[in-house]
Amino acid sequence: MQNCRYYQGKQEARKRELRQNEHNLQNRNTGLHESIRCILLILSKPGRFNLCFLCYLLFSISRSSCGILFAVRVPFLATDFVFMTQFDLRREDCLQGMSRLPDEHVDLVATSPPYNLGVRYGKFSDRQNRQSYLRWCREWAAQVRRVLESNGSFFLNIGSAPSNPMLPHEIVIELTSASSGFVLQNTIHWIKSITIEDRAGDVRSFGHFKPISSKRFLNDGHEYIFHFTKTGRVEIDRLALGVPYQDKSNISRWSHTRGSDLRCRGNTWFIPYETIQSRAKERPHPATFPVQLAEWCIKLHGVSRVQTMLDPFLGIGNSAIAAQRCGVKKFIGFEIDQTYLAEAKRRLSL
Ligand SMILES: C[S@@+](CC[C@H](N)C(=O)[O-])C[C@H]1O[C@@H](n2cnc3c(N)ncnc32)[C@H](O)[C@@H]1O
Repeated sequence: MQNCRYYQGKQEARKRELRQNEHNLQNRNTGLHESIRCILLILSKPGRFNLCFLCYLLFSISRSSCGILFAVRVPFLATDFVFMTQFDLRREDCLQGMSRLPDEHVDLVATSPPYNLGVRYGKFSDRQNRQSYLRWCREWAAQVRRVLESNGSFFLNIGSAPSNPMLPHEIVIELTSASSGFVLQNTIHWIKSITIEDRAGDVRSFGHFKPISSKRFLNDGHEYIFHFTKTGRVEIDRLALGVPYQDKSNISRWSHTRGSDLRCRGNTWFIPYETIQSRAKERPHPATFPVQLAEWCIKLHGVSRVQTMLDPFLGIGNSAIAAQRCGVKKFIGFEIDQTYLAEAKRRLSL
């Protein structure tokens, strides 16, 4: 009898142990499951519907308890779909590509053509006779004007070289001539590098410049961004790029501030290139602008007013990435060089 009770007790203890093990295993699985869900949620970028977020959703729905994180993320689902940029990127001469677009089809153009300064592109020969280069600029600008909406903005980034200092201004004269018909609404200086000496005499340098080896010319630390419109009267969102006042007494002194500590940034934009270790791997193109440059053009025109954006000279797609970051609905880009276009698509995960 005693033996029988002894074995029954042992069996009970064994069952308890098994139940405990099962419970522990379940807890471990739930912990693992929650960890995976958290990692997927963190990896999914806000503002777009990506693969990680899709995995996260499926993973959550496949379990009965969706958890608080899911509840927090659900309101973003609609916006994730809404803010997904639709891309139409083509390997094509932009003159041909634009000729197929309807009149007044795009709200914003942000671009940088070859400057005719002998840059070594993969496909394009950047050394033409000056007159034929300017004629070509007139041709593609006429297409830009035709496809641009009447209240649209055209941001043109152009640099120069000591040997060719008038080039940007000659292009402006071509584009604003009676036959081209653009109005130059703003001239912005893209500052790539600057050295600032404060009142205490501390000297600090920022950004990267193009070194010029010369006894006559200075190192090159800036380019132009010309803002063209059809009328010269297009309203812009000045405070979208606003900066706080240095002297806060201005806020109450000037009525136009309406009590807000935000002023127009002005027409000097300091946008340094990111520091890279390997050009071939990280920036495989000889003449790019930073994503931030195109992003600021979109914001200055007004993000909510840009439904469709165009870059006729896409390069490796910095303007397209800017459009994606700003949640522009549709982006159209042309590039003649397959290698650059492939790199643009790779960066956009297309
Ligand atoms: C100054 S780069 C633009 C770089 C671009 N903004 C970026 O950040 O990657 C000019 C580009 O225009 C391309 N290109 C030259 N002629 C073209 C044409 N007719 N149609 C389309 N693309 C052209 C060149 O291959 C080059 O990649």
